[in-house]
This record gives sequence, C-alpha cells and structure tokens, in this order.
Amino acid sequence: MRHVTALLCAGVVLLPLAVVAGERRSFRPGERWPDDQGVHINAHGGGILDFEGRYYWFGEHKVAGEIGNTAQVGVHCYSSADLYNWRDEGVVLPVVKEDPDHDIAVGSVIERPKVIRNPKTGKFVMWFHLERKGTGYRTARSGVAVADHVTGPYTYRGSFRPNAGVWPRNIRPEQKVTAEVAATHSFSGGDLPDDPDRLNLIARDHEGGQMARDQTLFVDDDGAAYHLYASEENSTLHISRLTDDYLAPAGDYVRVFPGRFMEAPAIFKHDGRYYFIGSGCTGWAPNAARSAVADSIWGPWEELGNPAVGPDGALTFHSQSTYVLAVRGRPGAFIFMGDRWRPKDAIDGRYIWLPIRFRNDRIEIEWAEDWDLGVFGGAESR
Ligand code: DGJ
Repeated sequence: MRHVTALLCAGVVLLPLAVVAGERRSFRPGERWPDDQGVHINAHGGGILDFEGRYYWFGEHKVAGEIGNTAQVGVHCYSSADLYNWRDEGVVLPVVKEDPDHDIAVGSVIERPKVIRNPKTGKFVMWFHLERKGTGYRTARSGVAVADHVTGPYTYRGSFRPNAGVWPRNIRPEQKVTAEVAATHSFSGGDLPDDPDRLNLIARDHEGGQMARDQTLFVDDDGAAYHLYASEENSTLHISRLTDDYLAPAGDYVRVFPGRFMEAPAIFKHDGRYYFIGSGCTGWAPNAARSAVADSIWGPWEELGNPAVGPDGALTFHSQSTYVLAVRGRPGAFIFMGDRWRPKDAIDGRYIWLPIRFRNDRIEIEWAEDWDLGVFGGAESR
C-alpha cells in the first residue's frame, strides 16, 4: 500500500488518497506476474505450501537465455496471503558456487522443487529432480533439503535414486530378474517396444535405485507423504511412500501408467478420490495434458483423458502441469498450475493458473483470460 499525500496541481488541491500500488485482484494466465518488487516471479516448475495462513510458492529460479535451463541460482520462494500478490522471500536453496563437483553446483539441473512440512519433526522438507552438471538428463536422481523455517535457509542433505533394492507392490514374478538378464534388452531412447515388459527397466535399476525425473510430493489426510516421479526412462510413473520424517523413501511403491511416458506429475484429493494431472514427454514443448482418478493412491488409476478443453486445450494452453493447489477454506476449489516454458529465454517463462472443474466424473480446465477466486463460488476471504 503506497500513501500519496495531498498534491497541489494547477491550483486544485487533490485530497490525500491511498492507492494500492500494483495490487492484483485476479489471475491473468500467461502474462508477466510481478512480485512485490515489480519483478516477474521467478519460481518455475513450482509448488505451493499452505502454512499458518500464508501460501509459500517454491520454484526454479531461472536466468536469461538458454543457460537458464540449468541451475545458476537455486530455488526461489515467494509468499502470499491471497494468491494474487506475492512477496519475494529470496533464494532459499542456493546452488553451490565453490565446488564444481558438488551435486547442486552451478550448472546442475534442479527442477520441480516441492516443499512439505513434517508435523512430527516440524521440519520443512524439499524434494527436487537433480541432474549433476554435465550429465544431460542421465543422473535422474532425487535431491532432498531441509529447513527449520519455511523460508529457509534449506540445508542440502544429498541425492539418490529412490527405492534401491526394493520391488514395487505390483511387480509380476516374471519381472523379478537380475540386472544382467534385464540388460539383454538395452534402451537408447524413443518409444518402448510394443511389449514394454520386454524391456525390464525396473529390474535393470533394481539394485542401484530407480530413475527419478519430473516429480511432485503429496501429503494425504492421514499425514502419510508420497513422492511421485517419472521413472524407467520416463516411461512409467512411480508413486512411493516416504518415511515418517519425509526424508527418504519408505520402501513401498507402485508402478503406474506403465509405458505411457507421463511427466510433470501433479496430484490432489477431492471427496475421497485421488486425481492426477500430468503431460506427455515432449521436452520443453507443450502437449496434451493427461488426467486420471483412483480411489486409492496405490491405484488402480483410471485415465480420464486431457482435462484441458476448448481452444488450445490440445496443447494445454501452451503449458505443462507442475502442481494443483487446494485453495484454503474453499472445499472443492483447486487451481491447476502450469508452466509456459521459454527455453530460449528461460527467465521469461510464464505461469498458467486456471480453475479446475469437476464435470461428469472428469476434471476440466478451461482457458480464462482474467479470473479470480470468485469462480469457485461463495465470498472471498481476504
Ligand atoms: C520436460 C520436463 O517436464 C521439464 O521439467 C524439463 O525436464 C524439460 N522436460 C527438459 O526438456
């Protein structure tokens, strides 16, 4: 809020008035979104933690140009009371500048950070997709960092491929072979063979841990937390329960959507059912979103098709999912959060936030140029 004192202008006294400097009262998907400093929000591939009456948005800090597709700065945090206006809380997990061999050195890839709070330890726990510098996307590991305060600083704990030595719940007996046997069919990218199980990636990676790229976290009503990650060369998603302190995989996981090449996972729960939104695998280019529903997080998951409807829905309004936000105090109100990537000038990536509608047992997302929380019905609590 900026106060403007009385002005004398051409002999006319203008009474003191209070103007609200740039205060936003709506979402304008795809437009630049200035923070409290007037700078476009820099939190790509992000997620939101709702904590003690404020929302905290964590995301990838990107810099200008193509180099911005690698981590040059770290994970950025913003906070907001109303979801429209965001305060810059700074970089809460910086990249390591002094040691070029560090996991999170400048030039590594730190993508899709998500933060949850552990009610038992009181710690804030961040998970992200990590690629070590110079490895392309071959590292495929999960990084974990922890903080005592929501806005950090976050201390890096290390990285790993999840679930080393653990078979998933829904493994079939014939899939339980050694890495040597599994390696008789190699994978060099592209589509999986017609019979995806001929390529037994779950067995190939059994010993060292499963590949983990695009990812998100989800805390269920009972406090159990889950890690969803694109695994097996992106071909299959894994849903993996975390330990009680949320710091590691608990060793209990399931393969879902085998051979469907889904990434950009987002998950939410409504009326006791679990809903999933993701995308296909086309790099930074947009594609048709996917959605699915299940009565248990362990599945079976039923695919519901592309939730993005209307003009441009086939390309998810030129965006890719990153998170679904449950709006506080408004049961049934969920916001789809997507990224409109700008890989040539990463810092200029835009945010596509749109309301989710439940219709005929499906979920739908429709384009809106300018909208506010009033679309969910009821009065807005501000
Ligand atoms: C799509 C993923 O969803 C992004 O997070 C990023 O990894 C790009 N691919 C890289 O091409």
